[in-house]
Amino acid sequence: MSRFAALLVLLHVSGLAAGQGRITDYAPLMNVPCPDLSTAPLMRSFVPQNQTIHPQEAEYVKTRESTIIPAAWESWLRDGSDIGYNLADFKGNYPRTGIAFSGGGYRASQYGAGVLSALDARNDSAKAAGTGGLLQTASYMTGLSGGSWLVVSLFMNDWPAIQDLVLGNNKDLSGWLLEFPLWTPGGINLLGAENQAFFGSVLSSVIAKANAGIDTSLTDPWARVISYHFLNQTTRENFFTNESSHGAGQLWSQARHTSSYQKHNVPFPIIVANSRPSDWDDPGQIPLTAPVYEISPLEFGSFDPSLSAMMNLTYAGTKLTDGFPENGSACVSRFDQAGFVMGTSASLFNAIIDRGNMAIDGFSAQDATGISYMLGRQLDAVRTRADDVANWPSPFTGLKNGTFIDSQSKWLELVDGGMNKENVPFGPLLVKSRQLDFIVGVDTDDDDDNRFPLGTSPLTTFKRVSELLRSTHQQFPPIPTSREAFFATGVNRRPTFFGCEPTQNPPEYPLVAYLPNSPPLNGDDPVTNTDAFKLAYTRKHTQLFLDQAHANTIGGFLPNTNSPDPNWGKCLQCAAIDRARYKRTPVPPRSAVCSTCFKQYCFDSQNPPSQDVLPHRKFKFVDPDPQGIFRVASTVSRNRGAFIGAGVGFVGFLGALIAFLLWRRRSKEAKYKKLKEMRSEEQMWGTSHDRGASDTLPLRP
Ligand SMILES: *[C@@H]1O[C@H](CO)[C@@H](O)[C@H](O)[C@H]1NC(C)=O
Ligand SMILES: *[C@@H]1O[C@H](CO)[C@@H](O)[C@H](O)[C@H]1NC(C)=O
Ligand SMILES: *[C@@H]1O[C@H](CO)[C@@H](O)[C@H](O)[C@H]1NC(C)=O
Ligand SMILES: *[C@@H]1O[C@H](CO)[C@@H](O)[C@H](O)[C@H]1NC(C)=O
Ligand SMILES: *[C@@H]1O[C@H](CO)[C@@H](O)[C@H](O)[C@H]1NC(C)=O
Ligand SMILES: *[C@@H]1O[C@H](CO)[C@@H](O)[C@H](O)[C@H]1NC(C)=O
Ligand SMILES: *[C@@H]1O[C@H](CO)[C@@H](O)[C@H](O)[C@H]1NC(C)=O
Repeated sequence: MSRFAALLVLLHVSGLAAGQGRITDYAPLMNVPCPDLSTAPLMRSFVPQNQTIHPQEAEYVKTRESTIIPAAWESWLRDGSDIGYNLADFKGNYPRTGIAFSGGGYRASQYGAGVLSALDARNDSAKAAGTGGLLQTASYMTGLSGGSWLVVSLFMNDWPAIQDLVLGNNKDLSGWLLEFPLWTPGGINLLGAENQAFFGSVLSSVIAKANAGIDTSLTDPWARVISYHFLNQTTRENFFTNESSHGAGQLWSQARHTSSYQKHNVPFPIIVANSRPSDWDDPGQIPLTAPVYEISPLEFGSFDPSLSAMMNLTYAGTKLTDGFPENGSACVSRFDQAGFVMGTSASLFNAIIDRGNMAIDGFSAQDATGISYMLGRQLDAVRTRADDVANWPSPFTGLKNGTFIDSQSKWLELVDGGMNKENVPFGPLLVKSRQLDFIVGVDTDDDDDNRFPLGTSPLTTFKRVSELLRSTHQQFPPIPTSREAFFATGVNRRPTFFGCEPTQNPPEYPLVAYLPNSPPLNGDDPVTNTDAFKLAYTRKHTQLFLDQAHANTIGGFLPNTNSPDPNWGKCLQCAAIDRARYKRTPVPPRSAVCSTCFKQYCFDSQNPPSQDVLPHRKFKFVDPDPQGIFRVASTVSRNRGAFIGAGVGFVGFLGALIAFLLWRRRSKEAKYKKLKEMRSEEQMWGTSHDRGASDTLPLRP
């Protein structure tokens, strides 16, 4: 090759790198000059009774509500006559709406996506059913864990239609690529070339972050592997290459720069995470008192009265004491990686590392092996902190001593947003200063034996806001008082409105439309109640999944039948507009159409409904593509023999790793010594289980 040609190749390669970034862009920037703190404080803290939302959030919502949303109502409800109103009467008083997407892994991301398509005016069947259009009227959207993957994915891909976002469009979108198993996309052989290339890329991102000086944990490789699916830089073709940064360097604060956000075309997004207080000992449980954090593209912090403070997200990663950095020339930026935000909201490792049995619960053997293997290499290469949580340098040190439990900590240990059992992220939508009127809650919790919800999440939110958040949050409307009552009334199996009859004006709580993951109303076998730890789906399953969620959401229910309710779209419109009545004096009466709707869809504790009106539902999950699953699980079938040979060794390796993890919590110093022992143990397994010599586990990259 001539020098000239070589130069061209070089230019080409570096051009790619410039356009797509590098995998090491996952590292935050340290030692960034802090802004002038006398004019622009990095942190806001308030007395709980007098909280305010960020001026830029207020501005975003106000502009959206004055320029975009009125037309969205008119397009959805037209003149209002179909539901017995004159829409013009409500102009200027439209309810403020938010939609909450719960956690539950890929199950939640896909169910949420199907629901979203059913509320989206851009989808023809949704539009025809009358449900499509609600999305366009929403001012807020929250997501947690698997639900956060949907929300972040929407924003970081600039809001395509759901079908394109999830399954790709053969143009600029590759879809979520759920057919690549999350932790071992190259198939079951960890040592295969593709898996090794993938692990190498993931680890070099994580190592770059650790080398910059921010302690990492299992959440970091988790953040990176999720990014391959939900951010927009991974295709089938570049999956096992470094030609793309695979979303490293994409920041959640940059969601503000997308064109849909710039135009105020989309709701304001908020991601939710829980925290493990520094003095908390029970690994799997988080107390209700633990602060709940939120992460918007503007800010990171908590509106809980105990903390009641928010940090500028652009500088998240900077340790502040009493609101000030230790060194004004050493602020941190680029910590708010979109992948890390998703990983934090879904950081469930504190709950699934089973210390008794030395195992990682929940994940399939193949995934657990991939995780452990990657963690082993990570621990070998870099310093980590608490390995089982998302480590956030605290900007709140010194704050609210007395009420804020982590006031004396330098680090916040954040965990999965559903860890306190509030799996539907209602919290940010109930913050009083946000003034929401109408909330749609999508619940994909796996409460019952068939992995359908039983109301645990709304029950927990009801309890948390009434016991702990009265000064800062709106109350939750009346709901059945127990899981048993959710079950008996059937409100966990079909759309239900809560809070239809407030006793005062302004109403003491928002109206909530509850959309639980439930079996197909037509009596088909359900495909949407999969395990949250199922981390590979065939395209066929994903399509059926979206379609079932979509059909449920445009269908409502017709008592004692297996047919969709032709009036459901109107009923949802009635619920969405209802709070507008309370903003007028005198309050106009509810229309006859809407009163009929509310009789069927509102929960009335004096006259509770019964699940008996929902006949012939099937609850047991039936895999719609079992052959496909096998293909997915063993993409690289030529390596199947190698895996079987390695299996026993890896199981032992897993135990050793977890033992090591637990042990290291007690004595961090002896880390390298212990790892050396493990490596020699592994080499021993390597020779005693009939693996080729080249198969010896290369612990060090
Ligand atoms: C503050 O940070 C800057 C930039 O890293 C560094 O040069 C300086 O020495 C630091 N000052 C102190 C007092 O640590
Ligand atoms: C509430 O906060 C606002 C803005 O920060 C401030 O102007 C006002 O004085 C506060 N009111 C009370 C009662 O603390
Ligand atoms: C990913 O999305 C962002 C935001 O919309 C956009 O700026 C960027 O060009 C996209 N990247 C690719 C590779 O499509
Ligand atoms: C990407 O680069 C890292 C660091 O150089 C390397 O470990 C890894 O194997 C590379 N991955 C691929 C797919 O080439
Ligand atoms: C964060 O700080 C920068 C620098 O002061 C400022 O430009 C930006 O508006 C701040 N963002 C928020 C959300 O406060
Ligand atoms: C914060 O509270 C703790 C325990 O209540 C106390 O020991 C400590 O002195 C307090 N620190 C400050 C700075 O007030
Ligand atoms: C509407 O959503 C359904 C269900 O997911 C999907 O099959 C259909 O393709 C969507 N239509 C459009 C126009 O996106």
